[in-house]
Amino acid sequence: MSKKIVLLPGDGIGPEIVAEAKKVLEAVDAKFKLGLKFEEDLIGGCAIDVHGVPLAQSTLDRCKAADAVLMGSVGGPKWDALDSNIRPEKGLLKIRYEMGLYANLRPAILYPQLADASSLKPEIVSGLDILIVRELTGGIYFGEPRGIRLLDNGERQGYNTYVYAEHEIERIGRTAFEMAMKRDKKVCSVDKANVLEATVLWREVIQSISKDYPEVELSHMYVDNAAMQLVRAPKQFDVVVTGNMFGDILSDTAAMLTGSIGMLPSASLNQDSKGLYEPVHGSAPDIAGQGIANPLATILSAAMMLRYSLNEAAAADAIEAAVGAVLDDGLRSADIFSEGMKKVSTQEMGDAVAAKI
Ligand code: IPM
Ligand code: MG
Repeated sequence: MSKKIVLLPGDGIGPEIVAEAKKVLEAVDAKFKLGLKFEEDLIGGCAIDVHGVPLAQSTLDRCKAADAVLMGSVGGPKWDALDSNIRPEKGLLKIRYEMGLYANLRPAILYPQLADASSLKPEIVSGLDILIVRELTGGIYFGEPRGIRLLDNGERQGYNTYVYAEHEIERIGRTAFEMAMKRDKKVCSVDKANVLEATVLWREVIQSISKDYPEVELSHMYVDNAAMQLVRAPKQFDVVVTGNMFGDILSDTAAMLTGSIGMLPSASLNQDSKGLYEPVHGSAPDIAGQGIANPLATILSAAMMLRYSLNEAAAADAIEAAVGAVLDDGLRSADIFSEGMKKVSTQEMGDAVAAKI
């Protein structure tokens, strides 16, 4: 049976890195006889240029009909001045929302070969393996009302709404506990319950569902402290579960612990484990087209896709092992380069991983 994958390269370095991930997927397809079929479509700024909107209905329909979606990145200076309703990022937010991709898994794993690339001391980060479970279709990103309004005194006021309904907290909480059961059985729920009522409810709901997971040790942390602990002693964490905005911020911090945001994959899943897979990093317009971007986060996102949406764990393992092997060989893209290593282009890195499969 064939499996349909929609590739959404997007903007900036997106097309370069997705091309390398496709190459690696073709290699595992040949080896494991997965029957992968690829289609390609537009999202973000390139979609605005063609369709006038960052995510066309036809693209969304195609993604919904597929087995999985692999995305590059969206956005760039060319579209920065557009009205906030048709900015490239809106395409990404729309596909997350419309496909119901509420569970965003962002692992931060330090490859031992890259211990030097981290800005933190090796003993603080060596062996790091944490999973950030970020709620992705709610919270302040989607809360209404929102906008910029005119006050009586003629001054403008910007406003957003931080909202979470119980069912939204419950389902992401369950994702976190389920993940923890397969790991070190620890969940840290991050909130701002000392200030924000929405997160008082968050804490209550997480506490109540923890009763169904007696083996998992649950702790709670305020987000400011969590940000500090992540750089002070990151290995205290196993699974971190949090809302959309806090998860956005903390996952960038966690990414940097691993040496480069260019290494971090992500999965965004709905209740049927259908998903969108993308690197955590952005479109890096400053280096786009130069062939120096690190394709490993996208390649590792393809591995997550095989694992979570296509049920092909052996193929996923093969990709992850291949990435480890090219790092062992000393191959480094510019972002993770250090003295004595071999600097390679985006394409050379993709070729090397594909060759290891
Ligand atoms: C991310 C990104 C997005 C987000 C942007 C591009 C809308 O920063 O996936 O972390 O804020 O969710
Ligand atoms: Mg982000």
